[in-house]
Amino acid sequence: MPHNEPKEKHDHQTLKFPDGFLWGASTSAYQVEGNNINSDWWEWEQKNQPPHLRSSTACDQYNRYEQDFDLIKQLNHNSHRLSIEWSRIEPKEGEFDTHELEHYKSVLKALKNRNIKVMLTLWHFTLPIWVADIGGWENGKTVKLFERFVKRIVPQIAEYVDFFITLNEPEVYIYQGYITREWPPAKKGFWAKVKVNLNLAAAHKKVYKFLHSNYPDKPVGIANNIQSFEPYHKHSILEQLAVIFSDIGANHIFYILTRNTHDFLGINYYFHTRFKKTEGLIPQVADASKESQDISDLGWEIYPEGLFDVLADLSDHIPIYITECGIASTNDDRRNRFLITYLHEVYRSIQSGVNVRGFFYWSLIDNFEWHRGFDPRFGLIEIDYKTMERHIRPSALVYTDIIQHNGIPHSLLRFIGHTVQASEVLEKRLKEELKRESHKL
Ligand code: BGC
Repeated sequence: MPHNEPKEKHDHQTLKFPDGFLWGASTSAYQVEGNNINSDWWEWEQKNQPPHLRSSTACDQYNRYEQDFDLIKQLNHNSHRLSIEWSRIEPKEGEFDTHELEHYKSVLKALKNRNIKVMLTLWHFTLPIWVADIGGWENGKTVKLFERFVKRIVPQIAEYVDFFITLNEPEVYIYQGYITREWPPAKKGFWAKVKVNLNLAAAHKKVYKFLHSNYPDKPVGIANNIQSFEPYHKHSILEQLAVIFSDIGANHIFYILTRNTHDFLGINYYFHTRFKKTEGLIPQVADASKESQDISDLGWEIYPEGLFDVLADLSDHIPIYITECGIASTNDDRRNRFLITYLHEVYRSIQSGVNVRGFFYWSLIDNFEWHRGFDPRFGLIEIDYKTMERHIRPSALVYTDIIQHNGIPHSLLRFIGHTVQASEVLEKRLKEELKRESHKL
């Protein structure tokens, strides 16, 4: 190239994400609203959980959603994922509570008034007590009941919704409710699991068809928990077989059962699992708290590379949204590093051709972490459960910095691989920027 020809200009400062990328955070109704007294979870908590592990008023978001959505706006998110609680809207079979439906309309409108793209989950783990009483998802009738619920409410709220998620993490629901039995319905039995799996798949397919044909401009998918699996010893055939079977069972089975009924893949990524053969034939899951130095407050391994692996594995022609990804930690510097390193992997995957269109951090606010109660702190925003005050964590500002750049700026990249401490300088700069932005609101 001749010397005097202008060089092509590169933006070396920021790892840019595609235009129109969705940046947001996720919640689910039961975990944040409080007082969902008509839900099977509520009933189960009263019988099985000590008082400090019950959801009670949760984050009182039922009454404070305007305040939380102001924070979303202040933090510059352009989208939000949330769910509605079936047991509130249909507390008794066939009796739809118009007051509660109006409530959800106001919630969704409040997001739209702030110009936020809405991803709405129609079922996130909880059932009305009367549905649980007939056997929940084990009973084929629940498929029809869920379909009726969706057909009844969606025409009234669709104008405020941009994306629909029919079901959240079917396989996690089966694992927790029918294998570990730490969640309701806490039932045993091989056939119960099979029936629940098939009924959830049937429910998704029916609801997908209804939504897809009536609202063709609103993409429909599920949020699936996708794990990255790895053999501990690269040459162990048995460990490799464990990886293959687990990958199919945990990551692919629901897609196989619901083929051709997804406009996008919603991916919740939390887990990296190594299979290790010690004694006996069957490889066991290696204990992350012993094998890795980097674990969350829940003992889950921090393994950003796994996100690249699962994205690459699922990469095909339909768009991918990361519908959940987050860390439980009371040390917010760890969340800074988490955000930067995991988003760096998302960036890498996009560069390598994976069609990722959005990222929703789990979670917007600290909330009720199911059977583990309120100790795990996932939020970008801290909740003081005594006063219900909301406090923006510094990591929320790091995320805002990324959103404002629509990419990872160089100033943040230097945290990868070095220190988990967000420097005071960085924090000060971000706070000042945020102040300036909120004046503009
Ligand atoms: C679920 C959330 C949960 C989060 C963290 C996901 O499996 O969808 O409800 O709080 O993981 O455990």
